[in-house]
Amino acid sequence: METKKNVALITGVTGQDGSYLSEFLLAKGYDVHGVIRRSSVDFRERIAHLEGKPNFHLHYADMTDSMSLVKLVGKVLPTEIYNLAAQSHVQVSFDAPEYTANADATGVLRILEAVRTNHLEKTCKIYQASTSELYGKVEEVPQNENTPFHPYSPYAVAKLYGYWIIREYREAYNMFCCSGILFNHESERRGETFVTRKITLAAARIKQGKQEKLYLGNLSSLRDWGYAKDYVECMWLILQQEKPEDFVIATGEQHSVREFCYLAFKYAGIELEFQGEGINEKGIDKATGKVLVEVSEDFYRPTDVVNLWGDPTKAKTQLGWNPQKTTFEELVHIMVQHDMQKVAADHVASVMRTNLAEYLEKGLVK
Ligand code: NAP
Ligand code: GDD
Repeated sequence: METKKNVALITGVTGQDGSYLSEFLLAKGYDVHGVIRRSSVDFRERIAHLEGKPNFHLHYADMTDSMSLVKLVGKVLPTEIYNLAAQSHVQVSFDAPEYTANADATGVLRILEAVRTNHLEKTCKIYQASTSELYGKVEEVPQNENTPFHPYSPYAVAKLYGYWIIREYREAYNMFCCSGILFNHESERRGETFVTRKITLAAARIKQGKQEKLYLGNLSSLRDWGYAKDYVECMWLILQQEKPEDFVIATGEQHSVREFCYLAFKYAGIELEFQGEGINEKGIDKATGKVLVEVSEDFYRPTDVVNLWGDPTKAKTQLGWNPQKTTFEELVHIMVQHDMQKVAADHVASVMRTNLAEYLEKGLVK
């Protein structure tokens, strides 16, 4: 008997998770279809190495455009949808709350309705990228699948709608749709304004004389940080279960922004000492006495989530997933090593560009 081809549709394919998930599913033999948006910049850095592969296809659509999603689902006929697209920056959600709700809340409903409109409820499974931000102003530490939610930003409130509409369609229409409640996961592909990547890039730039100082917000905020590459496997595992269920995905370990910063600078070759408190706290280079890290109110949020710590017991026992595959130390090391090389390479490229401009000006190169 002919086995049916696995066809995945990934929204958010250009993002950190979308890029790793695409690699993971292609390696499993899936046909992978990704949603892209029109942008003035055509270079899609994280998936550039996948473009042109025979089983990898890109399509224009948008989470805020129902018809584009209905048409795309009808064209691709996916067996699995991974809904990763979102305005994913918590601080930005305070500046653009309505757009965040449109993409992150109503967008989930649009995906579900696109599946129903195309009569694929029985054949298409849906993974929703839910988040530890749902726990927000936490009511229990550590947090598991039964911990009450208390969203604490426009982003989290939008994601709460996504979580509940997924559950509702599961119960009302018997659809196979699940949430992965993922705690923070980072990588060398992490967006540059999230705190971990901002720190690893700054540590590399400061070490190589390209930046003077790093300004951060709340250094005492606590997160359960894992490696994105390990986390995309869980998205897939969640959809391979017998029945649709929600899972917390986390490492079970908690660290502060300050600790992340200390370790990142250490791996870049700088030992920091933190002195002072609150807005006056500073990270000082022990060897030179120079202040390299300062706190700025610009990076404080109107309401901040400060105590995220996940309990991955269910994922460990039911999915057979190893939450400690990449340790905190390894994660920071991977990111710093990558950014040390990136900063050095950017420097070489910029010197070459300057030299070329000079040669052209002097008529030395035709
Ligand atoms: P990311 O790097 O910010 O990627 C977000 C993706 O969503 C990008 O591909 C982006 O496209 C796309 N997107 C945004 N608005 C869209 C719209 N209106 N229509 C179509 N596509 C749109 O995020 P990530 O870190 O990979 O996270 C993936 C998902 O997991 C997100 O839903 C996030 O909220 C959730 N999540 C992340 C974490 C984490 O720690 N990383 C933890 C829990 C949950 P462009 O490239 O065109 O901007
Ligand atoms: N971005 C940022 N920049 N955060 C800072 C800074 C800074 O300069 N200084 C301190 N922080 C603190 C924030 O206040 C927050 O408490 C913590 O560092 C982590 O911030 P982010 O890295 O921006 O991530 P996030 O936890 O708000 O959101 C990420 O994780 C969520 C899962 O818990 C995003 O990926 C969300 O999409 C995801 O849902």
